[in-house]
Amino acid sequence: MAVPLRFRLNHEDVEVHLDDPAATLLDLLRGGLGLTGTKSGCAVGYCGACTVIVDGEAVPACLQMAGLLDGREVRTVEDLSGPGGLDPVQEAFVACAGMQCGFCTPGHVMAVRALLDKEPDPDEEQLRQTVDGNYCRCTGYVKILDSAREAVALERARAGEVR
Ligand code: FES
Ligand code: FES
Repeated sequence: MAVPLRFRLNHEDVEVHLDDPAATLLDLLRGGLGLTGTKSGCAVGYCGACTVIVDGEAVPACLQMAGLLDGREVRTVEDLSGPGGLDPVQEAFVACAGMQCGFCTPGHVMAVRALLDKEPDPDEEQLRQTVDGNYCRCTGYVKILDSAREAVALERARAGEVR
């Protein structure tokens, strides 16, 4: 029997009916909801490719049981850009060429986004720990770290514009 599930997804209320009680948030996003920006890598919580933000925390969507999402708040990479343009974290990855094949990029972007939401002025160690949780086979991490540093700068600049 399908179980009804209501939660916030990218600032909108959604209701889905879950047929598979073992489905993960990753299954739900990429399957029923068609949000394929979140990537599926290892599917067991190691690679970080599926990182999304749930209730303000960066988490692997492959480890979140969809059936436990009722009433929770989920953000995916699709939420970041809008009519106003790219999110500063996305802008930073473009500006610093922080991707090659791009497979790991949504996970990195969401992890850095979650960090900056909590800590607008992270130190180098926090940036390194954040990108460390997401495997990248292409870049060697130099440009990913450059992108994370640039995201901090762009975020600060935007905050200054708003004031
Ligand atoms: S696909 Fe979720 S951590 Fe690898
Ligand atoms: S850019 Fe290819 S895996 Fe990171």
